[in-house]
Amino acid sequence: MKQISCLWQRIRYGEVNGLRRRIRGRENLFRADGAALTNIQVDLIGDDNQVVIGEGCVLHNVIFRIRGNGHRIEIVPRCRISRGAVIWFEDENCRLQIGEDATMVEVHIAVTEPGSQVHIGKGCMFANDIDIRTGDSHAILDARSGKRLNPAADVEIGDHVWIAAHVIVLKGVTIGENSVVATGSVFTQSCPSGVIVAGNPARVIKTGITWQRERYPNQKERPDTS
Ligand SMILES: CC(C)(COP(=O)(O)OP(=O)(O)OC[C@H]1O[C@@H](n2cnc3c(N)ncnc32)[C@H](O)[C@@H]1OP(=O)(O)O)[C@@H](O)C(=O)NCCC(=O)NCCS
Repeated sequence: MKQISCLWQRIRYGEVNGLRRRIRGRENLFRADGAALTNIQVDLIGDDNQVVIGEGCVLHNVIFRIRGNGHRIEIVPRCRISRGAVIWFEDENCRLQIGEDATMVEVHIAVTEPGSQVHIGKGCMFANDIDIRTGDSHAILDARSGKRLNPAADVEIGDHVWIAAHVIVLKGVTIGENSVVATGSVFTQSCPSGVIVAGNPARVIKTGITWQRERYPNQKERPDTS
């Protein structure tokens, strides 16, 4: 029988306000030194899993739901999750890396099937109701051969990508840096850098763009409302 041990001793965090945990397994590690966490839930069954949250991260209402072994979740410094997130891991040796200075309002990220990965670059901005997944959770088979038709595939989101509200990013998608994903898009295929993609299925609607968080690039362009 698998040894069940509470690894609370290996849970380290900075400022925390509300941490619920159910951890069963061995050699699991949760570190969040220097991060500010509010209402975090760690629900983990398995061995040798690691959740590392970098300094200066601010996370609210995040559920880490982890099943299986050898998973790695790395949220690097100064990331912010403002409304909430569900980080869902299954199977073995999956990876999630969220780059520096990323901000997310509300996301669901599912990393499933052995070895699959989601990589999110630096400075990304995700709005509310974003769903990113490496797999479909269930098998679709060729009726004759029984061959699996929908294997998992990695998701790669480049640096400085803006994902607007209510977007779904499916398995195998790469989004190039500086791109913008329009609201309500369902992303089934990759797109290059510096484009806007929109629709279901998402298609490139503008090229040669970049974006910034500030509404007005400079004061001169600001409308005169006086
Ligand atoms: C991505 C976005 C910013 C692009 O805006 P834009 O550059 O002004 O784009 P336009 O309005 O000029 O649209 C260009 C074309 O794409 C289409 N389009 C725009 N958004 C679309 C969408 N979400 N789905 C499908 N088509 C869309 C337009 O109909 C238009 O088509 P046409 O050329 O055939 O007329 C905007 O579509 C968007 O998603 N806004 C929501 C942002 C958001 O969620 N903010 C929350 C805080 S992060």
